[in-house]
Amino acid sequence: MHNRSDLEKQFTAALKSIARRPDLKSYVEQTPQLNQILRGAAARYVTGEARQDGVEAASELSAKGYAVSLEYIGENTADVAKCEAAVTEMLALIHEARQNELSARVSFDLSHIGLSLDTELAYSNLMNLAEQAQKAGIELFISMEESSKTDRILTIFEQVASIYPNVGITLQAHLKRTPQDLAAISSPSRIRIVKGAYQESSEYSLPRSPALNDRYVELAQSALRQGHRVSIATHDESIIEQLLNQGVGSSSNAEFEMLYGIRPDLSSKLKAAGHPIRIYLTYGHEWYLYLCHRIAEYPPNLFQAVIDTVSHEGVKPVQSYE
Ligand code: FDA
Repeated sequence: MHNRSDLEKQFTAALKSIARRPDLKSYVEQTPQLNQILRGAAARYVTGEARQDGVEAASELSAKGYAVSLEYIGENTADVAKCEAAVTEMLALIHEARQNELSARVSFDLSHIGLSLDTELAYSNLMNLAEQAQKAGIELFISMEESSKTDRILTIFEQVASIYPNVGITLQAHLKRTPQDLAAISSPSRIRIVKGAYQESSEYSLPRSPALNDRYVELAQSALRQGHRVSIATHDESIIEQLLNQGVGSSSNAEFEMLYGIRPDLSSKLKAAGHPIRIYLTYGHEWYLYLCHRIAEYPPNLFQAVIDTVSHEGVKPVQSYE
């Protein structure tokens, strides 16, 4: 099992805060050579910049027997026109997922469609997406963001999911409040459980630790007992093994979900053993923060990123899925 040293934890915290510096992000965006180099590293985790890149990778994985999630990357959108543009892109994605007969779920941050500007705007954009997704037979999944947004995200989720049951929600096991949030979800819903990607104060959250893993397992079991459809979204093999040993594999309400490019060997192994598994694919221009998060949460990826930036063959993670 991967044991995180203090040095790794410091690296993770430093990279996550560097990733959020707008000056560095614009430097990367405005320096063509640097942008090109980092794009080579991002290709391990992001399918490309265009919708077509996401849909093509999703189709390849679907043909191999995986369910998929698709995300048009973006968050904290700061003006209304950009929120509307994101909604238009997501509607086109829903339409294409349907046309390609993908067993797809469209995932997104509510702050990409207005939450950072106005709760009403996020709500009405979500209602529009949920209606169109329901007509197309596609699931919509709300990601979970920083804890300062959790109350608003859960309120909007409850309101919209009571009308459109095709809408699901992500819960973060690292937040101390999450067992209560799970218990408060009134009717059987679609729930994704993740550890949590954001830097949070220890007052509100647990660090990566055996205690967090125990919390994760308890949450997954308790969500299944409550009758929810549950995505066990982790690459942590010890958690997956523990849940399988506890019989989760025989529940028709449980599936495993992993990020594209991360542990394709483990995804392939679970699929070969007959477990339902979903791969979470992303695309879009906003790949920089996403890349930093993937490196920060597993520092050895920095070495892989360096190799990928100088690789002339190009990175094709989709081929690693069996
Ligand atoms: P952990 O970080 O403890 O890693 C366990 C092991 O998994 C590592 O030892 C390593 O072997 C492997 N691993 C993990 N990350 C890796 C990486 N980047 N590269 C290579 N190996 C890696 N978060 C959030 O806050 N809000 C959200 O909405 C979502 N949504 C979401 C959807 C899906 C489908 C997934 C899988 C994850 C998310 N996340 C998320 C991210 C999540 O919170 C978490 O940061 C990552 O999944 C990493 O945590 P693990 O559970 O894998 O455990």
